[in-house]
Amino acid sequence: MATALITGASRGIGRALALGLARRGYDLLLIARSGDQLRALAQEVQARHQRQAQVLALDLTQPEAAVRVATWVAQQSPDGLAVLVNNAGYGLWGRFEQLNLEEQLNMLQLNLTLPVQLTYALLPLLHQAERGFILNVASTAAYQAVPSLTLYAASKAFLLSFSRGLRYELKDTAIGVTCLSPGATTTDFGNRAGMGTELQAVANKVSMTADQVAEAGLKALFAGKAEFIPGMLNKVSAGLTSVVPKPIVEKIAAGIYEKYL
Ligand SMILES: NC(=O)c1ccc[n+]([C@@H]2O[C@H](COP(=O)([O-])OP(=O)(O)OC[C@H]3O[C@@H](n4cnc5c(N)ncnc54)[C@H](OP(=O)(O)O)[C@@H]3O)[C@@H](O)[C@H]2O)c1
Repeated sequence: MATALITGASRGIGRALALGLARRGYDLLLIARSGDQLRALAQEVQARHQRQAQVLALDLTQPEAAVRVATWVAQQSPDGLAVLVNNAGYGLWGRFEQLNLEEQLNMLQLNLTLPVQLTYALLPLLHQAERGFILNVASTAAYQAVPSLTLYAASKAFLLSFSRGLRYELKDTAIGVTCLSPGATTTDFGNRAGMGTELQAVANKVSMTADQVAEAGLKALFAGKAEFIPGMLNKVSAGLTSVVPKPIVEKIAAGIYEKYL
């Protein structure tokens, strides 16, 4: 049976992606820090979809995290890995020079360095599978600068560019790469980013559910899309960033995100 690895599977979009992959017949390898939530999800996967799920409770920002994950995956799934989902990530809301630098570097470690390290370490196992898929979860923030989420947006722009470049390099292999860029989604993201209640209330008005995002993302992955933005409003607003002058785009974003700082 084909195996899928999902980082950040304990809740939110990652949890929904895990359930969507189990529904499609994949056995799962689940990683996040919250072991109890992962074990509960593994039981749900077994009960609802009759698929096996193994869990690894690990802080993915720790040094050597990618090496530990790669060793674990090779033990759990020695015949190859069919799907790698780089989903774990978070944002930090605030002005760059006022946010703690260590915390910002930790966010970059999780949002961009870890996906690079993990992809590099797991590509040999992905090549072993009959057909391999990499799904990188970026954000609509990948398409523009977002004042007060400056480094977060930059990390997601990196992930989008990394996905596209790698996809091209792998085009003559059996591995596909897709970048999923959700807009506002109802998860713990806003709390983790330290967003105030006013800003979260604005986001909630246009939010999609994690299940909607995951289902659309998995369809895009298995349809072989290079990049995918779920939701019409998100598609249109991201599309406008390529035609509207950047200073205007940034002023609009600042009007939404900086206003409530
Ligand atoms: N929600 C949105 O509006 C939105 C929009 C666009 C893009 N995204 C992206 O979607 C992805 C998933 O976010 P979400 O919205 O589902 O947020 P979430 O509910 O906060 O989930 C984040 C997941 O990442 C895991 N995680 C966080 N830090 C970790 C660490 N140090 N080591 C291991 N796992 C860690 C969390 O598990 P533990 O806490 O148990 O470790 C959790 O499973 C992120 O990459 C985010 O940037 C979200």
